[in-house]
Amino acid sequence: MGWNSWNCLRHDEVTAQAILDAASAMAENGMRDVGYNTVVIDDHWQQGRDRVGRLVAHRERFPDGIEAVTDAIHDLGMRVGIYSVPGSTTCGQFYDSYPADDLGSLGRERLDAQTFASWNIDFLKYDWCRAHLNDGIDVRAAYELMSSELHDTGRDIVLSISEYGIWKPWEWAYGVANMWRTTDDLKPTWWSLASTIVQQYPISQFSRPGGWNDPDMLQVGNGSLTTSEVRTHLSAWAITNAPLMAGNDPRQQHPDVSLMLNPDMVAIDQDWGGTASKVYGYVGDNPIFAKPMSTGGTALAILNLHDRVFRADLRPHLPAEYLTTYREAWTGAMFDEHDFGAVELAPHDSHLLRPIA
Ligand code: GLA
Repeated sequence: MGWNSWNCLRHDEVTAQAILDAASAMAENGMRDVGYNTVVIDDHWQQGRDRVGRLVAHRERFPDGIEAVTDAIHDLGMRVGIYSVPGSTTCGQFYDSYPADDLGSLGRERLDAQTFASWNIDFLKYDWCRAHLNDGIDVRAAYELMSSELHDTGRDIVLSISEYGIWKPWEWAYGVANMWRTTDDLKPTWWSLASTIVQQYPISQFSRPGGWNDPDMLQVGNGSLTTSEVRTHLSAWAITNAPLMAGNDPRQQHPDVSLMLNPDMVAIDQDWGGTASKVYGYVGDNPIFAKPMSTGGTALAILNLHDRVFRADLRPHLPAEYLTTYREAWTGAMFDEHDFGAVELAPHDSHLLRPIA
């Protein structure tokens, strides 16, 4: 769990001060204390490389370097992440005309891993950005190389890889990376959210401790998502044990951001009950996800991905052991067999159900 700068800070907005202000806001607004404690500096932090080829942070925006930022964030009891790519070219250089040269880690994997470790970095987001086309490199070999270089630094650095699910990392990245993107960039729109959720159905079972499916950073508080859609966003991430990397601007208040602090949602997301979630079944095309909880029982998420109200008696569709008593995460109310008999969800809304032990 944590926060990543990409969905709210780009180009000149990526400054030491903005990152520190975001971290301080998270310490004050409750995010850190419920678990959002890794602060990731995404792309656009770089100046270039020095004479020996070491990466250098942008000199004006990070006047004291990255290490000063990591020290200050560690003092807040939080961890720090940074961004790089295995090829020669970052996504910022390729897609956003980011004005710098020679930023990718290609050929400098050991030096970059050592540099990040020397800055006391705790997490590396290692993106892809067309490295197979730009540089002709192999995805799996590239990620294995950085994984082993990070390991050799002796520092415990979480590796988050991001090849957008193109090469099915859920089939091979366990033991290489700690989390892998499963899909393209999540945009703050219903269309992007719904299609990302649908793409998780067949692969949710591959997530497990030490290697998690990552359907991308949260878009809570961003763009055009309604409160119902945010509930569906968080319900889907929680039931699939997805990393919860906030993408809002923590320096500003948005009413939906409080949903990220929901204790039942966070508890379901962070709990490992022995197997990953699966779509238990569909009612009118809408998925019912189920996952066991280590505390007993099964958590359920009933998602209404349609543009119309979803009304159903779910009792004939669910096994008897699911028809027990839960707390509905979003209302805080009890939810029992009677409620399963008369489910009613507004368009794009969801129930997230935590079993009561
Ligand atoms: C890609 C990634 C994003 C972000 C940008 C940075 O698009 O998927 O999450 O890291 O690159 O340029």
